[in-house]
This record gives sequence, structure tokens and C-alpha cells, in this order.
Amino acid sequence: MPKTKNDSAPRVAIAILAAGKGTRLKSKHPKVLHEVGGKPLLAHVITAATKVVPAKDVYAIIGHEADRVRAAVASSGIGFVIQKEQRGTGHALMVAREALAPYDLVIVLYGDAPLITPETIENLRNFHASKKAAMTILTARLDNPAGYGRIIRKKAGSDDVKAIVEQKDLTPAQQKVHEINAGIYALDSQQLFSHIDELSTANHHGEFYLTDMAAILGKARQRVVAIEAGNPYEVLGGNTRAELSDIDLHMRMAKCRQLMAEGVTILFPQTCVIDSDVEVGADTVIEPFVQLRASTRVGSDSRIGSYSVIIACEIGDQVLIQTGCVLEHSTVRARVSLGPYSHLRPGCEICDEAHVGNFVELKKTRLGKGSKANHLTYLGDSEIGEKVNVGAGTITCNYDGVSKHKTVIEDGVFVGSDSILVAPIRIGKGAYIAAATTVTEDVPADSLALGRARQIVKEGWAKAKREKAVAQKAK
Ligand code: UD1
Ligand code: CA
Repeated sequence: MPKTKNDSAPRVAIAILAAGKGTRLKSKHPKVLHEVGGKPLLAHVITAATKVVPAKDVYAIIGHEADRVRAAVASSGIGFVIQKEQRGTGHALMVAREALAPYDLVIVLYGDAPLITPETIENLRNFHASKKAAMTILTARLDNPAGYGRIIRKKAGSDDVKAIVEQKDLTPAQQKVHEINAGIYALDSQQLFSHIDELSTANHHGEFYLTDMAAILGKARQRVVAIEAGNPYEVLGGNTRAELSDIDLHMRMAKCRQLMAEGVTILFPQTCVIDSDVEVGADTVIEPFVQLRASTRVGSDSRIGSYSVIIACEIGDQVLIQTGCVLEHSTVRARVSLGPYSHLRPGCEICDEAHVGNFVELKKTRLGKGSKANHLTYLGDSEIGEKVNVGAGTITCNYDGVSKHKTVIEDGVFVGSDSILVAPIRIGKGAYIAAATTVTEDVPADSLALGRARQIVKEGWAKAKREKAVAQKAK
């Protein structure tokens, strides 16, 4: 809620219009939950808005699939207004009247235009104040303005705007206008709500267009001005899948540039997919075709090999991740070496200096400091101590068809190649498992477990078989 009326600083609310269905996406999911840069469109707009005003003064106007939309962004702490029927962008503010009327200034953002920056919102607010306007419109000049509402200025070069005309209502002359309406406005709250009922549905879509407020306020002798965004791409809206992909591209390149500015080397950044919330330390090198997703954090002086996909992981300093690793919801500590082609499924912790090699899959497993599992191995639901060597082809049998069981391997154990560890099982400190052993019972510390058939040797057997075959052929 806003502060008391007597405060000198204007009380500012941000309303984010997010109730629409997004018909042009041809999707069963609401438009504002479609993702760019690894996050829903609406989440990006909320991030920008809450850098300008506190979350309690931000209201999302939601309607289509409101419950899903609310749940997706509820953690931001913003308020919500329900627009049950979506009868246009003007109608969205009519239903939010009660929430917004107590403020002095309402800044409107559209939930499908996620590249907007806090700086631009602040510029809009300051420009609005300096011009003593009732409405200030953020605009951009686009090479291809198709689909956007166009800005009709009173005179070329003037700050003042006569009207905003929607694509479908353009006259042939207006079609030549390249200055578009970003869908981002600052509105004097009192003027907005004393004139909002003058909006009509006499237009191509039969909707209440918020854009008509420009002409309505102008006729009421209120000042309506426009300010161009610094960067035209900031105003891009995602109405179609193609537009979403353009926005995604802008966002990801901006993310790469941000990381590079912070000291990260990215080879061939055009091929890397790095989500907005990812953090990477200085002097880390990211090779081509890497994906770093969700809340992934990578330390300094690490290297991420090509074709690795890392989702919601914590990666330490001086870590080497070689080609083709897939890591999910796991923690990798310092100086670890992974890959090529290692798979960490959720819930793993790889401790300092451990090695995980080719075609090794781990799930809910802690691999202790300096331990190694280098080749063709599956370790699931396991607790593995320090300096353990897990031989090639070792497998934990953690699942009996009904429940999962735990494998514990204590410090300094040597597990010979091709061992089968049938859980629940505990291998004591310093024990030695002979190659190809099937371990079904706990192994005490410092002992040898050997569980395979004794070898038989029949001397001359192979030679005799060959000679017999040759003799038969000769017949
Ligand atoms: C709108 C503008 C257009 C501008 C463009 C910028 C209008 C009439 N037109 O067109 O001038 O160039 O954005 O991207 O405003 N919404 C609601 N409730 C509704 C209708 C829409 O909350 O009843 C929300 C949508 O979810 C969306 C936003 O408002 O986030 C914009 O609606 P959309 O239908 O995408 O408008 P455009 O046709 O893109
Ligand atoms: Ca739109």
C-alpha cells in the first residue's frame, strides 16, 4: 500500500499487464510464462520493476490461467489483480483501479516485453516529471515496425503526441511511421482514472485500448509526450514464437557480454546458452556450445568444455569440465576434473580434487576428496570417502525393484574393475575389492573381498580346437 497522501515524493506504482492469453503463440501455456533467457517473460519484467519501486508497489494484472501465472512469480512478493475477462489493455487498468488509484503515478509495463531495463523505466519517470505530462509513452524506432502501435507526434521533432494508432487501424500514410509504442507508459493516476471510462471498443479488435488514452488525454488538454528508448531492442514484445526467439537471442548475447565484462572468456559466444541468473567467476573459460542454466554458479579459473549442459549446479574454482558433461542440481567443489562425458544426476557432491571420467553416471552420491571414478561406472545413493579408487565398470546395485538402498565406501578403499556392489552395503576403510567381485555382504576394514569363480586353465585346449576345425574343413 502507498504511503500517506501528505508525503512530498510522488507515490509510484508499477502495473504489469499480464492477463492475455497469447493467441498468436498457439500454445496451451499462458504467454507471460513462455521463457526467454531461461525464465518466464513476466519474471524478467518483475525483476526490472522491483529495481525501481519496492515489490509491494508492483501489481501484475493477471487473468488467463491466473493461478499458474501467480504461482510462477509469487516468490517475488508483488501484488496481483485479477482481470477475469480480457477485454483489452485499457480494460486491464479499469479492473486495477482500486489498487492503483491511491498512487500519484502509475507506470505501466507489458508482461510480454521483458528486455526493459530499470534505467529506462527511471528515465521515463524523470522525463514525465520534467515535462509535467499526464501521460508519457516510451517509444522506439524499428526498421520493421509491423505489428506495433505507431506514434503520431503533433509535429515532427516535438515531444508531444497526438495519438497512438494500432497496426490494424493504420491509414496508408500512418503505415510509413517507424516510431512504435513500446507499451510502456507513465500515467498521472488522477488523470488516468478520471478519463479511463471514456475508452471505447470502437476499433478493429472490439477491445478497450489503453493506447487510446493518448488521444483522450490530449483532447482533455492534458500533456501527452513520448521519449525514445536508448536501445530499440529493449522494447521488443514477444507475441509470436519468432519474436520470442529474437528476444531470447538478445538476452543471451547481453548475458555473454556481461560475463565477459566481468572477466570470463567465452569462445564463440553466439553458440552458448547462458541463463540470466547464472554467475561465473573471472578467468573461467567457456568453450563453444556450452549451456549454463537456471541458478548455476561457476567459480574462477575453471574451464567448461564444449557441449556440456549444466543445470542448477554449484561449480567451484579451478574445475575442469571436459567435453560433453551433463550436470544437474549438484555441487562440484574445487580442482575437480569431470568428463569427457560424465553425468551427474541430481543430488551429487563431488569433493575437492576428485576425478569423474568417461561414461560415469552418479546419482545422489558424495564422492570424497581426491577419490576417482574414471571409467564406465554407475554410483547411485552412495557415500564415498576420501582417496577411494573406483575401478572401471564398477556398478552399485542400489535398486531392488522396490526400494533404493545405500552404498557406503570408506576412506582409502580400492574397488577393482567390474565390481558389483549390491546395496545396502558398507566397505570398510582401506579394504580391497578384487576385480569382478560381486559384493553382497559388508567388507570389514583393511580386508580383501574376492567373490568370483576360480579360474580354470586347460593347456593346449585352444590349439586342439583349431586343428580339429581345420581337419574337418579339409574333408
Ligand atoms: C500492444 C499495444 C501496441 C504496442 C505493443 C507493444 C495496445 C492496444 N496495443 O499491442 O500499441 O505497440 O503492445 O508490445 O495496448 N493484456 C492484458 N489484458 C488484456 C489484454 C492484454 O493484461 O485484456 C496484456 C497481455 O497479456 C500483454 C500486454 O497486455 O502482456 C499487451 O497485450 P498484447 O495483446 O500483446 O498487445 P499488442 O497487440 O502486442
Ligand atoms: Ca504484445
